[in-house]
Amino acid sequence: MSSVRIYVPDLDTLSHGEARVFRFRRRARAVEGFVLRVEAALVAYANVCPHWSVDLDMGVGRFWDPESQRIFCMNHAALFDPRTGVCVRGPCLGDSLEPFELEAEGSGAWVTVPDAEPDPVSDPRP
Ligand code: FES
Repeated sequence: MSSVRIYVPDLDTLSHGEARVFRFRRRARAVEGFVLRVEAALVAYANVCPHWSVDLDMGVGRFWDPESQRIFCMNHAALFDPRTGVCVRGPCLGDSLEPFELEAEGSGAWVTVPDAEPDPVSDPRP
C-alpha cells in the first residue's frame, strides 16, 4: 500500500493546544489523525494510542492537557511529548504516537500518511 497526502484546511485559526482531525483508511479500516498547534509549530500524529490502539480523544477532538503542556490520552491519562510523540507518563511509557510529515500550504497543510489510502467520507482539497 502506498502513502496518501491529505490536505487539512484552516490550520491558521488554531490556537496553541487546539487540533484538527482528519481521516484516512488503512488495511480496510477507518483511522483518524490530527494536526495540533504547539505554539508557532504544527505537528501531526495518528489518533491511535500505543497503549490499546484506540482513539486518544474518545471522539471529542481534544488532545491537549494545558496543565502539563502535553498531548494526552483520555482513556488512561497517558501524556506524550508534543514535539516527539513519545509517551512521558502513563501505561505506554517510552512508546510513541505515529508521527506524520507536514507541508504547510496556504492556511492549511498537506499531511503524508504512509501505508494508507484516502477515506471516501473525508473531503480533501482537490
Ligand atoms: S489507551 Fe491510551 S493510555 Fe490507555
